[in-house]
Amino acid sequence: MSTHRSPDVAVIGAGVVGLGVAWRAAARGMRVVVLERAPEGQSPGAASPVAAGMLAPVSEADVGERPLLELGLRAAAAWPAFSAELGDKVGYRACGTLLLARGADEAAALEREQALRESLGLHAERLLPSAARRLEPALAPHLRAALHVADDHAADPRRLHAALRAAAIEAGVEIRTGADVERITLDGTRASGVVLADGTTVVAGQVVVAAGSWSGAALGLPEPARVPVRPVKGQLLRLRDPDGPGLLDRVLRFEGGYVVPRGDGRYIVGATMEERGFDPTVTAGGVYELLRDTIDLVPGIDELVIEETVVGFRPGVPDNVPILGRSPHVEGLVWATGHHRNGILLASITGDLVADILAGAREEAVA
Ligand code: GLY
Repeated sequence: MSTHRSPDVAVIGAGVVGLGVAWRAAARGMRVVVLERAPEGQSPGAASPVAAGMLAPVSEADVGERPLLELGLRAAAAWPAFSAELGDKVGYRACGTLLLARGADEAAALEREQALRESLGLHAERLLPSAARRLEPALAPHLRAALHVADDHAADPRRLHAALRAAAIEAGVEIRTGADVERITLDGTRASGVVLADGTTVVAGQVVVAAGSWSGAALGLPEPARVPVRPVKGQLLRLRDPDGPGLLDRVLRFEGGYVVPRGDGRYIVGATMEERGFDPTVTAGGVYELLRDTIDLVPGIDELVIEETVVGFRPGVPDNVPILGRSPHVEGLVWATGHHRNGILLASITGDLVADILAGAREEAVA
């Protein structure tokens, strides 16, 4: 990128959303700078490196709204091509998902979950416990009921993040780390760039806010122009089987958590959902509850090594539908945030949707 010409687009945030937008905008010929507040290689609390990586619009149908479901189904369909475009280096696994129930109450809840999905035209096949255990022999014998969601898969968010960073740089994007944005500058009602905490001004034709949970900060914007994004804390465990892969193949979801196999002997166990602001602590209670329920369903998890305990902040919004599109209050300001539990899933389409908006080829991302 030329150092004396200001960029067409400044993207605030270098998670999978910000990098995906930057990559796709650069591919459309725009000069793009990405501003990452964390120093090189660090991003405490950011969702991208912590996320489990479930690509699960059908499994998540109970927590979302219809527009989110439609966006999620489009994103899931786009994932195989998206992975291929990134050189299949993102740990995409078409593994399917099992939703599991233990006691009678959980089995009744699972029946309601199946009915809900049928009413939405989604496919989730009821399995006898014996059939579920044939698919996943590590499941405990006291399993009561299961639903097979054959089309909900998984990817590896850390590999996705690295691949998107490489793709963005390859496309000519400049990534500035340690670039903590203090405020968006306004020229009348038009965004004209940003000022960093160290006083540096970055002039840009358009500004994209892709700062995850931090997108709700004031950023120097007038009150009506801000968005209602809040952090929803999640604690997760990263486990490794010293015996290598094979304990589990599919994603498992159950009351209180999930297990996502990476396919190489590593497993992500998650996740708490906590409204505690930006509290970065891993708690004994959080870890206990995650392990209690997971080991109850998959006793073999007991033998795995804990490699990491991590905390991330999902960017939550009141209606769970991401905020993708132009600000109605500030010209040249575009939001790409609020992905909540679905950032990795929606990464397959968010970059193109927002780049289309930046290029003037699309008005709204969620039509
Ligand atoms: N996508 C799963 C979670 O947010 O925990």
